[in-house]
Parts: sequence; C-alpha cells; structure tokens
Amino acid sequence: MRHEQHEAIARWERRWLALMGGLLVVLVILMGYSLYLEGGHIGRRAQGGTPAELTALDMFARPGVVETSPGRFRVSIVGQAFSFVPASVQLPVGAQVTFFATSRDVLHGYQVQNTNINVELIPGQVAAFDYTFDRAGTYRISCNEYCGISHQNMVGTIEVLEAGEFAALRAQQEAAAAAVGGAGEGVDAASLAVGEQVYSATCVGCHQASGLGLPAIFPPLAGHAADLYAVAGGRDYLVNVVLYGLTGPISVGGTTYAGQMPSWASLTDEEIAGVLNYILNTWGNEVRLEGGGLPYQPSDIEQFRAQTLSQESVLELRTALAIE
Ligand code: CUA
Repeated sequence: MRHEQHEAIARWERRWLALMGGLLVVLVILMGYSLYLEGGHIGRRAQGGTPAELTALDMFARPGVVETSPGRFRVSIVGQAFSFVPASVQLPVGAQVTFFATSRDVLHGYQVQNTNINVELIPGQVAAFDYTFDRAGTYRISCNEYCGISHQNMVGTIEVLEAGEFAALRAQQEAAAAAVGGAGEGVDAASLAVGEQVYSATCVGCHQASGLGLPAIFPPLAGHAADLYAVAGGRDYLVNVVLYGLTGPISVGGTTYAGQMPSWASLTDEEIAGVLNYILNTWGNEVRLEGGGLPYQPSDIEQFRAQTLSQESVLELRTALAIE
C-alpha cells in the first residue's frame, strides 16, 4: 500500500515536471519569436567603462550622424539630465542605422515612438542597436526612466526625410560648418569650438541647445547673457557664476527661477573662457552686443579663482548689477 502511494506521487511529479519543462520551451520560443521575427530590440552591451571614459570616446565627444557607407549610418547619442545630445537627428528614408547610446550621469531611457526602439541608457555602458527607417516622417523620442525634476522635458526627434531633402540638408550643414571659421568677431574659432563642446557636455542639460532654458526651472541664456555682459560688472559676474554657481531665486524677464546652478570650477580656464565666448556669440547674443564685447581669455578666468565665493554671495553680486 505504501509502495503504491509512492508510485502514484512519483507519476504526478513526472507529469508536473513535464508540464514545467513544456512551459519553459514555449516561453523561450515566444521570446525568440518576438526578438527575431518581430524585430525586438534589446540593446546589446557594446562597451563598458566609466561614464567619463565613455563620453570622451570620439563618437560621444562629437555625437550625431555619420554615414559609414552608402545608405548605412551610425548615430551616437548621449543622454544626460535632461536632454539627448543631439536632441534632433535627421536621416534619409531607408537608412540602415546602428545606434550607439550611453548616459553621462544617471539612468535614462531612449524610446522612439512608432518603432520598437526602447533601450536603457546606463551610465558606464554603451547600448548598441540597429534599426531601418522605411517610412519618412517625424519620430518623437522620449526618456522613459524617471531621472529627476525635468524628466518629462527630456525629449527629442528623429526626422526621416526623403532622399532629396536629406541631400539638400547635408549640403547646407557642410556649408555652415565651412563658414564657422568666420564667426564671432574678435573671438578665435578654436575658443568657440572648445566652448561649443563644453556647452553641449555641461550646460545643455539645463539651459538647452536653444539657449532658452526651461520655463520657470532653468533661466535662458539667449538674450539674457548678453544683457548681463552689457551692464557694469556683468563681464566679471559671468565668470563668477560659472566658477562658483548660483542659488536663486532670480528673476529673468519677469519669470522667477528658484533653482540652483552648481560650481563649474572643475573646468579649465580655457574651457570656461571658451564656453562664455560661445554663449555670447550664439542665439542672437552676438547681435545684442554688436561686436562690442571683449572676448574672454583664459587669464580673465584665472584671476577669479583665488577668492572662492559661496553661491549666496554670487546671488548678491547679481542683485548688485543694474539689470531689471
Ligand atoms: Cu532622462 Cu528621464
């Protein structure tokens, strides 16, 4: 009797084991189906390192679109609080794209609407994935990992253009790149190039690629930086605010910004001079100054390093300026 009971249990056990084994097989088949037949995209880990090492790699130091061979493209993307660099990517219809993406700071997501692209941008890792854009149109990108106060503003676009449109855009971009050497009266192009790189690595997350900041969160630099520069003491104030940061509230154009800007004293004198020159020669700031500005030199920055200001005293400096 005991022996028979034992036999019966063993039979049930075998049935359950077979059922479990069968379920596992079904799950693996389903995963394979969605990954290969439906073209599921799980970013493969292409490279590891510290976030600083990865963002220093050439493809992330100069992120964007590169045509590697006819019809094939490499797009490199850096995610950072709270933007994608570049935020907007243009590709021709039919482009076969390999994306490489990483994060400069915290975990972000890269989800492209109307595609199955949805990857995590992990600091210290590079995600790689392929996609072919068969239809022209604008695809919206959003960050789908909560990354901080302005997470919901972390958006971008991929514009897939007809071949002719794309060729025209490329020609226009190349012409603009060739003309950069002549920009910024009295400012050397090398300083502006350094500044542009610093801006896109350090400032763009808050002040945005447009220089317009974010409404009521991060103040604009477009127009405002030129206004600050133009008043007595403004030229020195701009150096101090980059070196030592600022704790609000401040008012710009009738809007109050109660945020905090960190100190960027870790940047070199060349980098701070470059980024200030870049800001004052972009977004119409150069028009406001009408060539009346003296470009910053690294030595202009160095002399302010000795004093060490608190963020509160930078706010007092700002209050003392004769701006509205
Ligand atoms: Cu980046 Cu949310």
